[in-house]
Amino acid sequence: MIQRKGSFVSASPMSAPLPRRFVGTGPLTGRIRVPGDKSISHRSIMLGALTVGETRVTGLLEGEDVLSTAAAMRAMGATIERQANGDWLVAGVGVGGLLQPAGALDMGNSGTSTRLLMGLVASHAITTCFIGDASLSKRPMGRVITPLGDMGATFTTYPGGRLPLIVTGTDTPVPITYRLPVASAQVKSAVLLAGLNTPGVITVIEPVPTRDHSERMLRGFGAELSVDIEADGTRIIRLTGQPELRPQRIVVPGDPSSAAFFVVAALIVPGSDLVIENVGLNPTRAALFDVLRLMGGHIVEMDRREVGGEPVADLHVRASALHGIVVDPAVVPSMVDEFPVLFVAAALAHGRTVTSGLEELRVKESDRIAAMRAALTLAGARVEETPDGLIIDGSGGKPLSGSGNDAIATHLDHRIAMAMAIAGLASENGVTVDDTRPIATSFPAFERLLADVSAA
Ligand code: S3P
Repeated sequence: MIQRKGSFVSASPMSAPLPRRFVGTGPLTGRIRVPGDKSISHRSIMLGALTVGETRVTGLLEGEDVLSTAAAMRAMGATIERQANGDWLVAGVGVGGLLQPAGALDMGNSGTSTRLLMGLVASHAITTCFIGDASLSKRPMGRVITPLGDMGATFTTYPGGRLPLIVTGTDTPVPITYRLPVASAQVKSAVLLAGLNTPGVITVIEPVPTRDHSERMLRGFGAELSVDIEADGTRIIRLTGQPELRPQRIVVPGDPSSAAFFVVAALIVPGSDLVIENVGLNPTRAALFDVLRLMGGHIVEMDRREVGGEPVADLHVRASALHGIVVDPAVVPSMVDEFPVLFVAAALAHGRTVTSGLEELRVKESDRIAAMRAALTLAGARVEETPDGLIIDGSGGKPLSGSGNDAIATHLDHRIAMAMAIAGLASENGVTVDDTRPIATSFPAFERLLADVSAA
């Protein structure tokens, strides 16, 4: 078992599972500010570490996943420090300058750190060993190994292309053209990051658009990157390798995936009236809010503005009578992490909600289709599992019975834990979550903010 002090993957008795029962305590009111976006935080550390000079990051998410990325970049030569005012300074090694790490890189629970860093190291002449927790060690890495192998890197993995794995990078990487077989920003980003230290132009063809933070940030750091959109929506992304990246001043907008839990909570707990400030609304991320509006949710954008080159607004959310809908599978990539909490909203809605096209949810931190079917069923919701989604017959606004003291299994998945915590707020007997420790991977302040808005 991997030892990581102060982290939920540590095997020490100090870090035994932390179960908790979440109960409704009345309406959610007041104003909260969500922490920095996880995807943007990872990328700001990685790209900052590839510049010569000092990148300053304001609003970095200080969750365990991002700290895993920071530790890995330090192990490969970058200097990364938190300032007294909460900003982070990243002093880099320059494109192509990553150093051989002395030991294995412990990625904890973070698939994004693993896949993006596999890309970065693939085009360096270093050997890198990636390890992670029990959840990460089940996740498929073949999706990045295939294109990175085409570029010339070699891999030794556990059976099934899983962690622990060793990447032997190449100093003569080949600039490939790669058409993404799955809609995955992680795979797209791994190839682009490998392309940074590759001579020539690397091309990624993306038939279904996914989050575009890598493209935006690579351009912001001075790389030559173009995106052509074909008539059918296919995106052709071309990156010219071996740019000189320039240090930046980055302000990280709030994470819409974290805001999602509070938005749904305010919609389903009667009497709630909540403002969530600083929510990133990049169109490749924000589909949940549109879907909830289609279900009848009162979500109003206030003070729309730009933060760090990304659209941001404060969201005013009021408790609403939701009704079930058929969710268009075309929106899945723009809300891929938000389905667990959407399922909770559906469980409280009037009528039936049908979701499909969610195969990718089965290979996230847990199998989120199976985990949410089991969790919501234990909490008293009516749920049917299909190969690629859930069909949920809502309670029509009536509280769920709740799981009481029976703990629902979160499978080391932060989003299952937070989604079911929110379900507990709209239940008669509360919902017990078997382990709240994974919440710290993406949203360490979750329970404190929940207490703040419940007591306001
Ligand atoms: C992420 C991409 C998504 C998402 C993950 C973060 C990223 O994964 O689920 O939480 O930062 O690129 P996929 O692109 O593999 O779907």
